[in-house]
Amino acid sequence: MTAVHTPAAAGSASADFRSAARSSVDVSAERVSTVVTAVLQGVHEVIRAHDVTYPEFQAAKQWLMDLGEGGEWPLFLDVFAEHVVEEVAARTQDGTKGSILGPYYLPDQKELPSVCTLPMRPDEQGTPLVFSGQVKDLARLPLAGAQLEIWHADSEGYYSGFAPDIPAGNLRGVVTTDSEGRFEITTVQPAPYQIPTDGPTGRLIGAAGWHPWRPAHLHLIVRAEGHRPITTQLYFAGGEHVDSDVAEAVKPELVLTPVDQCAVYDFVLEPA
Ligand code: DHB
Ligand code: FE
Repeated sequence: MTAVHTPAAAGSASADFRSAARSSVDVSAERVSTVVTAVLQGVHEVIRAHDVTYPEFQAAKQWLMDLGEGGEWPLFLDVFAEHVVEEVAARTQDGTKGSILGPYYLPDQKELPSVCTLPMRPDEQGTPLVFSGQVKDLARLPLAGAQLEIWHADSEGYYSGFAPDIPAGNLRGVVTTDSEGRFEITTVQPAPYQIPTDGPTGRLIGAAGWHPWRPAHLHLIVRAEGHRPITTQLYFAGGEHVDSDVAEAVKPELVLTPVDQCAVYDFVLEPA
């Protein structure tokens, strides 16, 4: 199953990122200097250690220009760098393990009750999947009225909002847990996701001889009042690319083992 992603879809991830205010942050001059100096020193060291030539330097410049013009900065950074930012954030996080947000989150999706079916097309393709579980606190007490934002690719590896021909809000929702913190979400099994092969990120992956795949996954942000929200992803045991995720975002604790198309997972949130 090969999903063909268009540069237009990546461009839309770029526009969406720009329009969300979530990137605004106050950073001191000292912090900017420390981090940017370290980044530049890293680049300088690579140039020295690998005898980078003028033609290679010019090719890198051209590629970086293409990356920006193609709107692929969010996609490139989320695949190749976000997992380390998450690793650092996770140093201070208890409870369910986090994973990367990725470029395809969209806020304000349909609100759904604890037992629900995600919005989908009447002829939505793919194996049915029932995803259920409970949201709890560190003492394992249930969190009633917790919210699970869930979004995932369809059976061809495409996300609504970032692919032509998929209705807005498809396979996305905001689910509220019941009085026992429980939820039961009916959806379809997502396919592995392939980084768009026709844009600059895909060209780089091809030029380096890497593979462009992420294993099939569900995206989640789980929130409960008074608790620290968790952004994570869940994978499927034995699925293709689970052991070779191009985005390096798989953690063993985040792998589901569905039985008869039913997957169960409990989330644990720490206090805010
Ligand atoms: C990318 C896509 C994803 O679906 C994801 O979860 C992480 C990263 C990407 O293309 O950058
Ligand atoms: Fe994803």
